Amino acid sequence: MFTLDLPAANVSTPSLETAELENLLNYLKQVQQIDLTGYKRPTLMRRTLTRMQQVGVEHYREYLDYLEQQPQESTHLLNTVLINVTDFFRDGAVWDYLANHTIPQIIAKKEPNEPIRVWSAGCASGEETYSLAMLLAEALGIKQFQQRVQLYGTDVDLNAVMQARKGYYSAHEVSAIPAALQKKYFEHTADGYLWRADLRRSTLFHCRSLIQAAPFPRIDLLLCRNTLIYFMEEAQIRVLVRFHFSLTHNGFLVLGQADNLSAHSQSSLFTPVSRDARVFTKVPDAHRDARLLSIAFC
Ligand SMILES: C[S@@+](CC[C@H](N)C(=O)[O-])C[C@H]1O[C@@H](n2cnc3c(N)ncnc32)[C@H](O)[C@@H]1O
Repeated sequence: MFTLDLPAANVSTPSLETAELENLLNYLKQVQQIDLTGYKRPTLMRRTLTRMQQVGVEHYREYLDYLEQQPQESTHLLNTVLINVTDFFRDGAVWDYLANHTIPQIIAKKEPNEPIRVWSAGCASGEETYSLAMLLAEALGIKQFQQRVQLYGTDVDLNAVMQARKGYYSAHEVSAIPAALQKKYFEHTADGYLWRADLRRSTLFHCRSLIQAAPFPRIDLLLCRNTLIYFMEEAQIRVLVRFHFSLTHNGFLVLGQADNLSAHSQSSLFTPVSRDARVFTKVPDAHRDARLLSIAFC
């Protein structure tokens, strides 16, 4: 029987400061449709205070007034709160595992012309999505890749998504890509490196929140790395349940090295295939639990 280890409700009386932060988060959610309520409080507080210092405001209450008066401020706050650190082929051993095991298995289980659908959730400025694209194109060949692969990159940060859509990176940024792949998949321009024009249709980038938006269906490979770490346990569970719905029967979920999720909820939904590479498959039938449905889509 599936039981959820949801965190116990906080029964202590919140301090004035905590209550004011919660007011601010509720305002952002209800008025500006920015839902930060699922994020871990210590990081959220630290980052919000950083932004408050930048605009010369001391208390959350005053900052709420400031947010109401300055239409652009919520974007600046979001830019401070969201951490966009990423890289091509970040954590190299994981990519070796995907190239040598996961991707060949996905391809082997498909019919020759069957589509392959991949989702990089929390893709930041696109490096992870393009890393996936290179591995898939290497495994399938360019023509098959163009015909069969649909890659989605999603992030809640619009600026990061716009950067990802451009597919334009500096020499420093592409230095993490093996030279042969860099040469094959990027056009060297005067100022940087541009993702190949003929492969652009296979990569779609959307600005959407994992906490608020419905998941993509029929996904064969889903990477969500170094993103759930910022979410509180209940939000993590909600997103994991949605990922379970998203993946095909044989689909794979890849989490980040630092995504230390609740062991119980994770194991109720997913079984590890490689603990080192943080690759998982679905526990069959976990989705039949009505309670999970209500948590994921309430
Ligand atoms: C540290 S980056 C990880 C990027 C990439 N996955 C990697 O591991 O290199 C975390 C990303 O998660 C995004 N993020 C945070 N909250 C999100 C949410 N609710 N929905 C979608 N993306 C989110 C941030 O904007 C940021 O770009």
